[in-house]
Amino acid sequence: MKRGFFICIEGLDKCGKTTQSMLLVDNLNNRGYDAVYTSEPTDGRVGKLIREYILKRKKRVSAAVEALLFAADRTEHTETFIKPNLDRGRIVVSDRYIFSSIAYQGAAGVNPEWIRKINKAAIKPDLAIYIDVPINVIASRCKGEGSIMEKIETQKAVREVYLKLVRSGDLTLIDGNRTIEEVAKEMEKIVLERLESKNIQRFQA
Ligand code: TMP
Repeated sequence: MKRGFFICIEGLDKCGKTTQSMLLVDNLNNRGYDAVYTSEPTDGRVGKLIREYILKRKKRVSAAVEALLFAADRTEHTETFIKPNLDRGRIVVSDRYIFSSIAYQGAAGVNPEWIRKINKAAIKPDLAIYIDVPINVIASRCKGEGSIMEKIETQKAVREVYLKLVRSGDLTLIDGNRTIEEVAKEMEKIVLERLESKNIQRFQA
């Protein structure tokens, strides 16, 4: 069966991930590819539970429980959205995926190997991009009412794990401390090179 191309975009809270993921989808579609945007936590039942039970709380629940709920949401996301779209030959761009669990729950002390195990049903991305923004910039953006994860000590620890994943080759780093247009341009360049090298077909010439 024809298989598409799976990209995930990772980064700290307020690093510009959502803007960049959506821009990437638009840019790919404008070039004649068939790309779709999606995100985690999802808008499904488990994703909604995550927002209420994990993200909106004053105090964090057990990080292992967080990891299990994110893995359940991801499994459903993979089965109901990501896989069917890949099977139709589409490019799927996911705003966060398994590396968010390794970074956020891993930084909170959960064993990364166990996180990979409980996410076994998650399809391996063909390309995983990490948008890096310095902590002082994130701190200035994470001021108002945010999720429980937006504490600056949490963001610092999460960034360390993301940078480790860059060093191990799991993630491709993009410098996010530039204008939206500059980041989008570099992201598009990296993605187009990959699509061309994998011979991913366009809809229109
Ligand atoms: P976002 O909707 O702004 O991306 O926020 C989702 C929050 O959930 C963000 O703080 C990161 C966190 N998160 C995890 O801790 N683990 C995960 O596996 C995922 C997908 C998100």
